[in-house]
Amino acid sequence: MAQQKDVTISVLKFNPRDKESHPKFVEYTLQETPGMTLFIALNKIRQEMDPDLAFDFVCRAGICGSCGMVVNGKPTLACRTLVANYPDRKLQLIPMPAFELIKDLSVNTGKWMDSMSNRVESWIVDNEKEIDITKIEEKMEPKVAEDIFELDRCVECGICVASCGTALMRPNFVGAVGLNRVARFQMDPRDKRTDEDFYDLVGDDDGIFGCMSLLACEDHCPKNLPLQNKIAYMRRKLVSVK
Ligand code: SF4
Ligand code: FES
Repeated sequence: MAQQKDVTISVLKFNPRDKESHPKFVEYTLQETPGMTLFIALNKIRQEMDPDLAFDFVCRAGICGSCGMVVNGKPTLACRTLVANYPDRKLQLIPMPAFELIKDLSVNTGKWMDSMSNRVESWIVDNEKEIDITKIEEKMEPKVAEDIFELDRCVECGICVASCGTALMRPNFVGAVGLNRVARFQMDPRDKRTDEDFYDLVGDDDGIFGCMSLLACEDHCPKNLPLQNKIAYMRRKLVSVK
């Protein structure tokens, strides 16, 4: 039988609401089990070693987007991260930057996403004064629906934001997730906003012109969304708006 390996996980612990708390790394050692993910390892640590350790999980399947954290310097989803991906079995975990820290590895991505959604008006705007609820649903070309669905796969994990140099310097930058959202509504035929309307929303350095094209958002996005492609497309469209 293969010998089980020791896994060493070092976590930056800090509770910003506790005046006595100071940021410090705490190290835990546990034995690897077959197929062990970081989600499994952190739960084991919390159950057996440190009930005070805070981190977020819901689905355990890369769907809910709650378990983003920085592992050895790279933002990633913990439930999709195999411990075996790290040959020396040493993992250092810190919370994702750019978001409000709740405690230890838990950050408030929901608050950030809510504010971004309001900023980019993340809903269909059809400019109709009266809504006729008896109207039959309009058909959409399957290719257009597929293209929209491709961008709608975003799980709002915030990893693109935590990976982004601009987002770390500009707290109001809408990030690749926000620009992806704008691109999604721009291609939706039900949305009657013009390029000028989108320019008013994101035609500044906190929007489409803030991106420095460092590409870390796309490199790290767990859903492999075509973020740079969409940002470049929106930038080309909006740069010609007078
Ligand atoms: S674009 Fe990708 S990395 Fe960014 S929030 Fe959506 S799924 Fe996460
Ligand atoms: S727990 Fe839902 S994405 Fe990781």
